[in-house]
Amino acid sequence: MALSAEKLSNIASFYEEIDSPNAHGITPNAPLLLVLEATTRCNFKCVHCARAFADRPAIDMSLALFERAVPVLRTAFELYLFGDGEVLLNTPRHLAMIARIYQEDPGARLQFSTNGKLLTPEVYELYATAGIHQIQVSVDAADKELYESMRRGGSFDQLVRNLDGIVAARRRLKTRQPELHLATVISQQNYRQLPLLAEFARKYEFSRWYINTEHPLVPGRELLRLTREDLVEVNRMKAHITENYSSCFPVVFDAATGLPSDTRGSPPEADSPVFCTVPWQRFELKANGDVKICPYYHQPICSMNGRSIRDVWNGPEFRRVRKAFASGSGIPSHCLECKLGMRRQFLPASLGIPRVRRTIPSARLGTAVGRGPTPQFGTVIDGTLVTFAPESEPV
Ligand SMILES: C[S@@+](CC[C@H](N)C(=O)[O-])C[C@H]1O[C@@H](n2cnc3c(N)ncnc32)[C@H](O)[C@@H]1O
Ligand code: SF4
Repeated sequence: MALSAEKLSNIASFYEEIDSPNAHGITPNAPLLLVLEATTRCNFKCVHCARAFADRPAIDMSLALFERAVPVLRTAFELYLFGDGEVLLNTPRHLAMIARIYQEDPGARLQFSTNGKLLTPEVYELYATAGIHQIQVSVDAADKELYESMRRGGSFDQLVRNLDGIVAARRRLKTRQPELHLATVISQQNYRQLPLLAEFARKYEFSRWYINTEHPLVPGRELLRLTREDLVEVNRMKAHITENYSSCFPVVFDAATGLPSDTRGSPPEADSPVFCTVPWQRFELKANGDVKICPYYHQPICSMNGRSIRDVWNGPEFRRVRKAFASGSGIPSHCLECKLGMRRQFLPASLGIPRVRRTIPSARLGTAVGRGPTPQFGTVIDGTLVTFAPESEPV
């Protein structure tokens, strides 16, 4: 779907800021990537998940708290309605949140991820009716024994029963909406499953396959980190999979896997002068009201309690991190140690955020999103500035 003028303006504003960050840490853009943790409850205890060791109470996000994120929906590039938990445990609540999101922003690019246990054909059809365009299903092995030892609480037989039923329902309804996206997290424990998983993705008509490297969140799991030799083998598998399956679905290896980048042009590190783009881009609201910047650092930076989302976004906590990332001094140690260079995931090119520029200087437009004369936008394609109308597809 085309990006609205409000979203394009927000993206342009984001690029202006990360290209030339100001010294006080306030940013005129609103969050581009909004992550709302609908629940912390889960029916699994996966070996690699933060839930396997972090002692967080099982709660759902209150609808009052959820409502406080609504003011930035229209300007967000993308929205994830899930966190460390399984949203299908409370489908009516999740669907109510989805309805509210589309009411506020019919063009919302909304995604969620599930372990698939409760994704029966009936539930799939509910989400189709709700207007969801894609559902990510996390599967780390296509071998029953390994799957069940990693995705503890899961049943491989149940998963394939659900997927078989969904394939049949789609044929009956003559639609592939919502698309199914496969997500796999690899470590030494499972990367040899990739060829088998490619067949699995083809068989169950997945439209995209995203492969990420395991971020060692759980103590002891760092021993299973992919070695240089493993990466050589993964790269060989990648070549085979790309050759044989890319006509069925795109296969995306995350930049954090350490494999050569899939994106065209310069390496993603060269994309931005700031240490990491996350504090200008991402807002993660946990079910209990905590606010996080980074998915890979589990300490919240503050709480939403008594504050609006805009106050928090340009509040002292976000400003402090932005100032450090812009100046290169005072960068928190966990960021300097960013395991596996996870920040590369959040470079705009990795996320598919189009490189939007205003063709009228922002001073003439005013800085507030959505104000000023009709904005004009452009994007540089092969060295030429191509302009487009706000309602057209940017790239
Ligand atoms: C935390 S889960 C929550 C959503 C849902 N329960 C699921 O399993 O898809 C979201 C995604 O994070 C992935 N994940 C979990 N632990 C991870 C880790 N240590 N490193 C990278 N990704 C991880 C999961 O495999 C899943 O694809
Ligand atoms: S199903 Fe998802 S949230 Fe639950 S433990 Fe596994 S990765 Fe974590």
